[in-house]
Amino acid sequence: MKLLINRKYTSNIIFDNANDFLKRIIKSNNIFIICDINLRKYYKWLNGYKKIFFYESTEENKNFESLVEIFNILFNEKIDRSYFIVAIGGGSFTDKIGFVASTWMRGINLIYIPTTLLAMADAAIGGKTGVNFNNIKNLIGTYYFPRYIVIDTNFVNTLPNSMIIDGMAEIIKHGLLKEKSIIKYLFRINKVNYKTLIKKSIKVKIDIIKKDPYENKNRYLLNFGHTIGHAIETTHNLHHGLAIFNGMYYEMLVSEKLIGYPKFQVINILLKLGEKFNLKIIKFDKDNTLIDKLYFDKKGVEDHIYVPIIKETGNSEVIKINKDKYIKTVKTIINQNGN
Ligand SMILES: NC(=O)c1ccc[n+]([C@@H]2O[C@H](COP(=O)([O-])OP(=O)(O)OC[C@H]3O[C@@H](n4cnc5c(N)ncnc54)[C@H](O)[C@@H]3O)[C@@H](O)[C@H]2O)c1
Ligand SMILES: [Zn+2]
Repeated sequence: MKLLINRKYTSNIIFDNANDFLKRIIKSNNIFIICDINLRKYYKWLNGYKKIFFYESTEENKNFESLVEIFNILFNEKIDRSYFIVAIGGGSFTDKIGFVASTWMRGINLIYIPTTLLAMADAAIGGKTGVNFNNIKNLIGTYYFPRYIVIDTNFVNTLPNSMIIDGMAEIIKHGLLKEKSIIKYLFRINKVNYKTLIKKSIKVKIDIIKKDPYENKNRYLLNFGHTIGHAIETTHNLHHGLAIFNGMYYEMLVSEKLIGYPKFQVINILLKLGEKFNLKIIKFDKDNTLIDKLYFDKKGVEDHIYVPIIKETGNSEVIKINKDKYIKTVKTIINQNGN
C-alpha cells in the first residue's frame, strides 16, 4: 500500500517481519533505532542491534521534557541526515519520535514499526506527530510522513487484552465512518485475523487523508469520537482507545439530538460491538471539568465548528455547527447520562 501525498511525502506501508525488514535495510543505510523499553523483554532479537536506544514510552511521558532527552541522545550519538530513525513502539511512541524526526535537522528519514494494534491500524498512519502540553493532547505537533511503515502483526501477541480493545475502538471508528465491511466482519468473527482487519482499517484512513492531508475539512472525519474522547481521556485517565469509544457514543447522542441522526440502530451497533469486545460505556458525574476540556482542535471557523457525523454505518460527513449550541448539547447529554 502507498500513501502518496506528493513526491516528497510518500509512506510505503509494508506487511513484513520487522527483524527481517531491519536486517535488509541496514545493509545499505545508516539506521538509529529508538525502541519502547518494554519490548526488550519480549523480543530478544532487538538486543542484536548495535545502534539501538531503549526508552520508556507512556502517555505520561509523551511530553515536551522527554523530547529534550531524545534530542540529547541524537546529539550525543551524532545522528545526522544520513541516518534513518526507526521508531519501534505504540502510538504514543510513534507520535513522539515522529515529532523528533520531523524537527531534527529540519527533518530526518523516518521509519515506523508500530507495535500495538491501535498504532498499526491507526496512529502510525497519516503523518500526524505530536506530544501533549499543559494537559492538552497533541498540542505541539507536526505533519510528517515516514518513508516506511512496517506492520508486523506478531507484536499483537504480547499485548494485554485492554490494549487489543483499544485498537478495536479505532477500527470500529473507521468502519462506522466509511467501511461497512469492517463492522460486518467484527460481528461475524470469533477469532480475528489481524492482518485482514488492519489492512481494511488503514485503507479507510488513507482514502480520507489522500483527499485532505493537512486537515482542511474532510480529514476532520477521523476526529470522530475525539472531541469528547480526548476530554474523557485527560479527565478520567482512560486509555486512548476506550476514551475514544466513549467519545463516539456521546458524540452520536449529541448529533442525534442536534440533527436527528444517526438513528438509534447505528448507536446500537456501537453498543453491541462494545459488549462483544468488552469496551464499556462510562457514566459521568455532572461533569464540568469534562466540558472545560472539550478541545475543538483547529475545527473552528469563527463561532462555528466542524463536526464529523455518522449518517448510517459506513456513511459519514463533516458538518458545520454553532459552537455554543454544540457545547450546550454536550452538557445536556452528559447530565442526562450522569449518575
Ligand atoms: N497520530 C495519530 O494519527 C494518532 C491516532 C490515534 C492515536 N494516536 C495516539 O496514540 C497513543 C496511544 O497509543 P497506544 O494505544 O499504541 O499506546 P502506547 O504507545 O501509549 O503504549 C501503551 C503501552 O503498551 C506497551 N506496548 C507497546 N507495544 C507492546 C507490545 N507489542 N506488547 C506489549 N506491550 C506493548 C507500551 O510499552 C506502553 O506501556 C495516544 O497518545 C494517541 O494520541 C495518534
Ligand atoms: Zn485516536
